[in-house]
Amino acid sequence: MTQDELKAMVGRAALDYVEAGQIVGVGTGSTVNHFIDALAGIKDRIPGAVSSSEASTARLARHGIAVFDCNAVGELAVYIDGADEIDGAGCMIKGGGAALTREKIVAAQARRFVCIADASKRVPVLGHFPLPVEVIPMAAQRIVRQFAALGGQATLRLQDGAPLVTDNGQHILDVRGLAIADPLGFESAVNQWPGVVTVGVFAHQRASVCLLGTADGVQTLRF
Ligand code: A5P
Repeated sequence: MTQDELKAMVGRAALDYVEAGQIVGVGTGSTVNHFIDALAGIKDRIPGAVSSSEASTARLARHGIAVFDCNAVGELAVYIDGADEIDGAGCMIKGGGAALTREKIVAAQARRFVCIADASKRVPVLGHFPLPVEVIPMAAQRIVRQFAALGGQATLRLQDGAPLVTDNGQHILDVRGLAIADPLGFESAVNQWPGVVTVGVFAHQRASVCLLGTADGVQTLRF
């Protein structure tokens, strides 16, 4: 099976976690795109979705799925999203698609986070995937130096030769060379650095379930 077929498999499997009559929180990325396409088949059973990015909002809208503002709804039953890495406790690195801030906001509004990922995303320790950090541009170079002091090499993410601008009008640093053995402590510490909007470690908003796409089928991990 290709990586994309594994992503499609877990995207479909996530439908089991969508509760009838409940608004569903929707993440961002290629795995979630498969979930959104599958969700279209049961759209009559839900009022709609809360979305974590302009890209997911556009895809939901193309399928005729209503998209609600976070502030217009209460607690969500479930948030479904992919990950760049997930460890043995359900902590994740996210933000490869630059949507980490809104992803964390919607995840925080949900009772549980169901992660959908192909098996390559399962790691013993977070940090091999470059850690995305959304930053206020005027703070970027000081934050680069703060990561250097931790042994990390942070670079500004570019798009078409210019700094990538997120849905929130900010920039992204990608940090290589970290081994994040204590995701909760790391996330708490970096959150305190002035100019950090969102660090792409999801430990406070970790997954409670991961549907992992393997060659043998969907493996369900509970944390
Ligand atoms: C988007 O910003 C990310 O957090 C994605 O959820 C993550 O990069 C996983 O993406 P794929 O599903 O495309 O692998």
